[in-house]
Amino acid sequence: MSEKIVIFDTTLRDGEQSPGASLNVPEKVEIARQLAQLNVDVIEAGFPISSPIQFEAVERIAGSVDVTVAALARAVEADIKAAYDALKGADSFRIHTFIGTSDIHIGEKFRDARYGKTIKEKRASILKMARDAVACAKTFTGDVEFSPEDAGRTDIGYLVEVVEAAIDAGATTVNIPDTTGYTMPAEFGVIIAELRQRVPNIERAVISTHCHNDLGLAVANSLAALQNGARQVECTINGIGERAGNASLEEIVMALKVRAEYWDFHTDICFEEIINTSKMVSAFTGLIVQPNKAVVGDNAFSHEAGIHQDGVLKDKRTYEIMTPESVGLPQTRIILGRHSGRHGLAARLKDLGYHLTEEELGQVYHMFLELADKKKEVFDDDLRALMGDEIFRHQDYYELDSFHVSAGTTTPATATITLKVEEQDIRESAHGDGPVDACFKAIDRALSIDTNMESYQVRSVTAGREALGEVIVRIREQGHSFTGRGVSTDIIEASVKAYLSALNEARATASGAEAKMKSAP
Ligand code: KIV
Ligand code: ZN
Repeated sequence: MSEKIVIFDTTLRDGEQSPGASLNVPEKVEIARQLAQLNVDVIEAGFPISSPIQFEAVERIAGSVDVTVAALARAVEADIKAAYDALKGADSFRIHTFIGTSDIHIGEKFRDARYGKTIKEKRASILKMARDAVACAKTFTGDVEFSPEDAGRTDIGYLVEVVEAAIDAGATTVNIPDTTGYTMPAEFGVIIAELRQRVPNIERAVISTHCHNDLGLAVANSLAALQNGARQVECTINGIGERAGNASLEEIVMALKVRAEYWDFHTDICFEEIINTSKMVSAFTGLIVQPNKAVVGDNAFSHEAGIHQDGVLKDKRTYEIMTPESVGLPQTRIILGRHSGRHGLAARLKDLGYHLTEEELGQVYHMFLELADKKKEVFDDDLRALMGDEIFRHQDYYELDSFHVSAGTTTPATATITLKVEEQDIRESAHGDGPVDACFKAIDRALSIDTNMESYQVRSVTAGREALGEVIVRIREQGHSFTGRGVSTDIIEASVKAYLSALNEARATASGAEAKMKSAP
């Protein structure tokens, strides 16, 4: 009987730390529901103490799925208490507490003399904090995970001591992070093997792995950890995460499945939900999946060279080690059009993993009909783009009423925009460096703002001249990034919608934070 590997998904925590991947609460809940469909074992939903929005997201997810929900907490009582408060409505939950253990983390993050003057003294303080944090978390739940942050660069003798102390205090999972993606696979494997040999109480906890992808080795390192005794993997959909990302869930679970005879491990993942989950995460985060990405990239199952095409026509196994169907990529495309009714649309959205209220469905149906009028065939990716555009987005503050642009090779671009802001119409015009810039400037003028635009991306959702254009805009406001998306068959309209969507997210976050702060005891 093969051994089970626990899949701990951290898309909504570490994944959301990807630059520009700001998700709002309803989007996080929707992704959590899809992760439940994918059948992951644990969903790390966020870091509750870090912001009121994070707290609310963890709380809402805890009440929405029947998978174990985890929340992150530094090794301090206030964080652990906040994690518990956010999680307590869940059927089953885990508190995940962590502290830096490498000398560089200890020396720099704990500079204050109250942690000790020398590295030796500081190491002793950190060890005590780790033990106390686990003991504190244990008063709230039996399911406690401890991570010695930057374990990949931690002195192995000290790592052994910290892990032993955490297990002694009650940790049931010890997660070994390669926080900076520094280690090589064989080297990381040895760390796990040493912990198994040298930590006397190691049998009382599950060893977990959490690898970052700075050198492109996150998946290889995670597999090396499994080979040496880890039985939980922390990973994210599409490999998103801090800097270069985390180990990619789909690559790990498919490596274990496709090479089952090599590994003799299994997961409980529902593989046919992989593509839906990947596409939903990409649509909501605005992080586009590279076409050649393993398992979920657009080209993952395309065969270009004549020799390959010939081989695949004779027998797919010549160049395919897994089938597209096995990860949920349908081979027959279901296409909707103007005559598809509300029921047909509802059924298709459900198959794509979306859970909508009647009101939300009404809203998508309206958008769908408008699109179907412009475009004969509406594909799954069009529907996903519509879902990523408006349904779960805040639209409460700034709404587009109408716009008009004039541009060309011989005249400067000019835009006139009418916005609805709190029931009032505001109209402004501006010149710009092209029609999109002119629209953005007119919006800035109408709202008397001067926004810092971090990025602007435009792409076509499907092929063809009448394809939907999707625009993703990232702005920076008060130290935070906000992403806005807009789709339309007209890319100027898509751009305007994306910019307003980012502004609405920023405004909603600021108001949400204020409301929470005011109601806090
Ligand atoms: O990368 C890391 O070390 C982390 C920990 C909080 C587990 O994300
Ligand atoms: Zn991490």
